[in-house]
Amino acid sequence: MPIFINESLRQFHLQTKESSYIFCVLKNGQLGHLYYGKKVNHRENFSHLFQLPNEPIGNATFLYKGDQTFSLEVIKQEYPAYGTTDFREPAFHIWHENGSRITRFVFQSYKVIKGKPRLEGLPATYVDNENDVTTLMITLYDEISRVELQLQYSVFEHESVITRSARLTNDGHHPIVIERILSAVVDYPDAQFEMIHLDGAWIRERHITSRVLKKGVQFIDSKRGTSSSQHNPFFALKRIDATEHIGDVYGFSLVYSGNFIAGVEVDHYDVARAFIGINPFDFRWILHSKESFQTPEVVMVYSSAGLNGMSQTYHRLYASHLVRGPWRHRPRPVLINNWEATYFQFHEEKLLAIAESAKELGVELFVLDDGWFEGRNDDTTSLGDWVVDRNKIPSGLSELVKRINEKGLQFGIWIEPEMISEKSRLYERHPDWVLKAPNCSTISHGRNQYILDLTRQDVRDYLYHTISHLLEHANIAYVKWDMNRNMTEIGSSLLEASKQGEVAHRYILGLYELLERLTNTFPHVLFESCASGGNRFDPGMLYYMPQSWASDNTDAFERVKIQYGTTLVYPISSIGAHVSAVPNHQTGRVTPLKTRWHVAMFGAFGYELDPAALSEQEKQQVKKQISFFKKYRTLLQYGTFYRLMSPFEGTDAAWMVVSEDKREAIVAFYRFVAKPNPSFMRLHLKGLHPSLKYEVMIDDQTKVLYGDELMHIGLFLPPFYMGTVKTKETVMMGDYVSCLAVLKAIE
Ligand code: DGJ
Repeated sequence: MPIFINESLRQFHLQTKESSYIFCVLKNGQLGHLYYGKKVNHRENFSHLFQLPNEPIGNATFLYKGDQTFSLEVIKQEYPAYGTTDFREPAFHIWHENGSRITRFVFQSYKVIKGKPRLEGLPATYVDNENDVTTLMITLYDEISRVELQLQYSVFEHESVITRSARLTNDGHHPIVIERILSAVVDYPDAQFEMIHLDGAWIRERHITSRVLKKGVQFIDSKRGTSSSQHNPFFALKRIDATEHIGDVYGFSLVYSGNFIAGVEVDHYDVARAFIGINPFDFRWILHSKESFQTPEVVMVYSSAGLNGMSQTYHRLYASHLVRGPWRHRPRPVLINNWEATYFQFHEEKLLAIAESAKELGVELFVLDDGWFEGRNDDTTSLGDWVVDRNKIPSGLSELVKRINEKGLQFGIWIEPEMISEKSRLYERHPDWVLKAPNCSTISHGRNQYILDLTRQDVRDYLYHTISHLLEHANIAYVKWDMNRNMTEIGSSLLEASKQGEVAHRYILGLYELLERLTNTFPHVLFESCASGGNRFDPGMLYYMPQSWASDNTDAFERVKIQYGTTLVYPISSIGAHVSAVPNHQTGRVTPLKTRWHVAMFGAFGYELDPAALSEQEKQQVKKQISFFKKYRTLLQYGTFYRLMSPFEGTDAAWMVVSEDKREAIVAFYRFVAKPNPSFMRLHLKGLHPSLKYEVMIDDQTKVLYGDELMHIGLFLPPFYMGTVKTKETVMMGDYVSCLAVLKAIE
């Protein structure tokens, strides 16, 4: 049993394979935090972990008369309040009918449940077998305001994962106003950490940022309505001396796709308080009598094997316990997408020609991107109508799909359901369906488009029926669900004034409801989420759509950084990655076809170019790439992934995947800037079996080496055959070069 309870002392110990998380009920009835870190044995008394100063504390405030030590300011807590002696970042802030902002949640009861209850209306991790997780529900209650707080802790004991969320219920007669309600707060005894997060912008998403914690509040957030490419809803606290592969790391990943906040406060005693949840900025939720509010889930991972250990846990957990449906664990088809090949300018014949030659190259799925619906010749028009453009596709959509199917390819389609163009029939009929604050006569556009008000049931019904119609009338196997702008002037014409502060969150709930309906109705369809590339690459979307387009940037060099950062949390199978043409459309950079392939193959792999523009030699190369990929795709997409060299720390990068039985592995090394007269380098591989003998194949050169040699002595780079092979490609000359080593155990 992963949950131990010292009943009389009211202490709770959540124990996983590697970690212990211990908390208690304090004497004022609130929950106090005692420990989170490497696993310790359970004992019948953890009271010694609770510390108060021996001396009265100067300039503090106290809960008990005559006691100048019991101040919440110095006590580590589970779900801290503001206004009752703690001045740090609180977990919640509630306004009561009488103007009070004081809520005293006092422990009432607990229960332990096998399995994990679903979070109403929200995506969350799940299990097929309820023995895989145990949940502790703690109920706290404020007698005066009659508000109940339920804290849910689910323990994945075999994974060193604890998920947390909170649920507030108004048990009184008057409405309350929630201004802040986070998913979790964790108090650490010190602040000797680096905070690692994923930041960026359009076409440079999820770059790794690392900062040593400093006094004060440091946080990342999104106010954009999407989780955003500026900051991913994730951060890790890494011990200063921890590395990629060694040392203590704590990950916090929020299963949410909207405005979030995630940060750490280091206080005047140099202790750290980590917090994460819905962004309190521009959030105001009225909770009427008997209503409940459920926060999103945060997935907390403890790793003693550095950042990579944390990432592997997230990869396993998200691939098995977040992604759902028939595509879970299933290798993804090799696709060709026409966007960078044609943009809006295409005709049915061109699409068929692309499909035809793609099929010859080995592609399995043809994806028709933006521009297929009436009037959509640029990005100023037609979003919302979703009727095929007969000028471009004279035979109609279902006929086109049929023809592509006849060529032996599956068919996929791009849609951007959450959007509406001013120039559309939908806008003419329903201008009130636009997301818009009540006092706005004009609203800002993004890519010439507005956002549909997904808080409205009628809008969601329209979208459900329109998309269902599309999927029912043509044999569509894949949907790329795009979302190309951030929210501005947020408001809804259906909600009363006092509820306008709920719109951003209600939008996300509406989106989740729509996705739940659609994915239940069309479980066989592979959905790929996209938001101007990676503007909404988060665990919330992954629950509905097993893969996400990582970035509109398809440049191999940029992609190594983007994909490297993305792997901090997200599994390879979820990272949409394509080989595109050169010069690259986002950077103008020219990289070898081989390098582009070596990068994109570590993902949900495909091509985004016009095969007609490839030379005969390139076509042969692509054919070989695809057949290699098909041979190894389970290993590439579902193997254990190791980051070996960071592109953020130099001009080389490397990573590898290893099969579960350790008998196969693929290593990729990328060199962005040529080094004249380079020194020999050794790439220390990971995750191999030390005493297995591996055949190491780089291009057509092989060597036999033991696992322990490869891990401890290293694989010599540039490739060990340097100087013996004549071609420019294989000796790795020039910029943006790469090599791939395929390892197979031979005994
Ligand atoms: C943005 C996406 O990220 C691109 O891949 C492409 O689908 C365009 N939208 C189409 O408008």
